[in-house]
Amino acid sequence: MNKILVLFDSASGNTKKMAELVAEGARHIEDTEVRIKSVDEANAEDVLWCDGLAVGSPTNMGILSWKMKRFWDETMADQWMKVDGKIGCAFSTAGGWGGGMELACQSILTVLMNFGFLVFGVTDYAAEMMTAHYGAVAVREPREPEAQANCRMLGQRLAEWVAVRVHGKTEQHPANKMDQRKAP
Ligand SMILES: Cc1cc2nc3c(=O)[nH]c(=O)nc-3n(C[C@H](O)[C@H](O)[C@H](O)COP(=O)(O)O)c2cc1C
Repeated sequence: MNKILVLFDSASGNTKKMAELVAEGARHIEDTEVRIKSVDEANAEDVLWCDGLAVGSPTNMGILSWKMKRFWDETMADQWMKVDGKIGCAFSTAGGWGGGMELACQSILTVLMNFGFLVFGVTDYAAEMMTAHYGAVAVREPREPEAQANCRMLGQRLAEWVAVRVHGKTEQHPANKMDQRKAP
């Protein structure tokens, strides 16, 4: 069973909507259990439980929110050196294009790398001119079908990597699904 946690912070609901779409994409892969937790309710056990983790935060001054940073600084501090090798990815929403959501994704990935996570980006295109090379990004609420597809694609890829890397299900490797994938 793939165990996926979607952990998010969201002050006004936009990242929460992305989180629900990421979860939906992960569920697309068979034998996947997905838990969605806000940073206000999550604890270290939730992270220890999962094999794959998608972390989402609003872009705040170009980086992850203080609440999400605090979760890793404080809630997860005792778990350092106990979560190495889990698979991680990032998503973020900002107030506008150029507002720094990819920088925010990078800041999340940096934190995950510090904890020993194996982090990834997505090469595929969810739609024309819509990809998630550094994580899924959206401006405010992910309202457009393309932005929604991008979030789902990230979640699906996370579940695929867990299936391949944790459970040895080589049929879930993206290279074995070329007929279903979109290039630019
Ligand atoms: C403290 C703070 C800092 C922000 N910094 C940025 C920023 O650097 N760039 C940007 O485009 N939007 C910024 N925003 C806007 C939010 O990223 C944006 O409204 C986001 O969609 C909110 O997501 P949420 O509904 O999940 O909280 C900021 C908002 C707040 C409250």
